Amino acid sequence: MSKRAFALSFIVAATALAASQGIAGESPPYEVVDGHKVDEKTLGGWRTWRALACERCHGAEQEGLVGPSLVESLKALSKQDFEQVVLNGRPEKGMPNFSASKMVNDNLTGLYAYLKGRSDGAIQPGHLESMSKDGLAAKK
Ligand code: HEC
Repeated sequence: MSKRAFALSFIVAATALAASQGIAGESPPYEVVDGHKVDEKTLGGWRTWRALACERCHGAEQEGLVGPSLVESLKALSKQDFEQVVLNGRPEKGMPNFSASKMVNDNLTGLYAYLKGRSDGAIQPGHLESMSKDGLAAKK
């Protein structure tokens, strides 16, 4: 193979890799059917949201109250920044720190997934159930 052909094939492979990673990066962190049946991880996130009563400040539908609307926030906030703010809080601005909560620590990924699904409009506000009840999870 000539040097040039080698360099070219390298570029093609690198571009293909970048493209495939781009697609993987865009796949949503939750699974949802009919707006209210979700995967176990996301369900755990919703239960954590309820148990820790985040709605006291962010609203029952994440629409914002004394805290900002998380439907809006999660459009811009990265997963990393989300985890930072939930664990460390912003005590001087009224957002408590949840690093001492075992449930939050155990369900942080699901909590992000749930709120991202709400922000995307894919998950309905209110009660959720497991999608595995109809045997949907078994398909995976
Ligand atoms: C006592 C009220 C209160 C509670 C309870 C509360 N928050 Fe907050 N939260 C706030 C306030 C106020 C802010 C805005 C802080 C600021 O101005 O930077 C905030 C900010 C946030 C942000 C960052 C938003 C952004 O745009 O940067 C996230 C994410 C968040 N809260 C998630 C949660 C989650 C998840 C829970 C439950 C585990 C929760 N909050 C519980 C008051 C609260």
